[in-house]
Amino acid sequence: MINDKKVLFSGMQATGNLTLGNYLGALKNWVTLCDEYECFYSVVDMHSITVRQDPATLRKRSRELLMIYIAAGIDPEKNCLYYQSHVPGHAELAWILNCFTYMGELNRMTQFKDKAAKHADNINAGLFTYPVLMAADILLYQADVVPVGIDQMQHLELTRDIAERFNNIYGDVFTIPEAYVGKVGAKIMSLQDPSKKMSKSDENPNASIYLMDDPDTIMRKCKRAVTDSEGVVLYRDEQPGVKNLIDIYSACSGKTPDEVVREFDGRGYGELKMAVGESVVSVLKPLQERHAELAKDKAYIDRIIKDNAEKATYYSNKTLSKVKRKIGYPDKIR
Ligand code: TRP
Repeated sequence: MINDKKVLFSGMQATGNLTLGNYLGALKNWVTLCDEYECFYSVVDMHSITVRQDPATLRKRSRELLMIYIAAGIDPEKNCLYYQSHVPGHAELAWILNCFTYMGELNRMTQFKDKAAKHADNINAGLFTYPVLMAADILLYQADVVPVGIDQMQHLELTRDIAERFNNIYGDVFTIPEAYVGKVGAKIMSLQDPSKKMSKSDENPNASIYLMDDPDTIMRKCKRAVTDSEGVVLYRDEQPGVKNLIDIYSACSGKTPDEVVREFDGRGYGELKMAVGESVVSVLKPLQERHAELAKDKAYIDRIIKDNAEKATYYSNKTLSKVKRKIGYPDKIR
């Protein structure tokens, strides 16, 4: 507990351009969780270097992402928005937890297998121990809840196993985190292939709406979205493209899928696509405007970065010094 609130931790990588899927599926919910929880939202740049990055691009995108967190509505004075690499405790605890994690456990991680296949020329040890760094992120702040997508659930399970293992040996050091299962975010699919998730790493730019796309681009991408030859606006699995459009419209307008179906009774896909595009524009426009404002205020963002790194370091050190004592590191001489 911090300030009588339960602690929440989550993070995102600044690789690729954030999509509408990232916003509707995660970020939008992060904002609503701020009232109830003491939130730590990290830009996990240490995770990003498990695959090769262009340094200038990584630096630029990390700052972008931090500004997007704020532009989306997370108050950086009340919540801790910070760069993972600015808080040394992440690396320190990750090393310790590496010694409490089995090769066999890491070998079972499906994301490692996927990424190793995708980056066959760079299967580095960091990629392998990526889930341990993620466990360190979470346990460092004694997080009670972690909002994660289904693709990160296996990593969260591992985090719980590591924490329990550690606690069994040393007593109650770590809070055992729960996945946040509240109102789950909308799962937004690719506009070009509705069997795939909308992804920031999709090579086809028409498949994803990026948070910084201008209105014309958004409208064009919506018009080009893949549908089907049924010709009726119904919300069902047999029409995945249309279903996805309804999901997007529903998430952006607050209407339920049923209401959307009724609204488009007897109307065609063209009209649906227009409405989807307009609703997306109206959601992203204020975010883009706030982002543009923030981008101009270098001093303010710099201060947020500094203050929050200090705040995160303060809380992480509490856990870390306890852990170090427990495992038998000698006390520092002061
Ligand atoms: N691995 C997560 C992802 O790629 C990002 C992440 C890093 C994270 N550390 C975390 C998410 C801790 C939740 C909690 O999506």
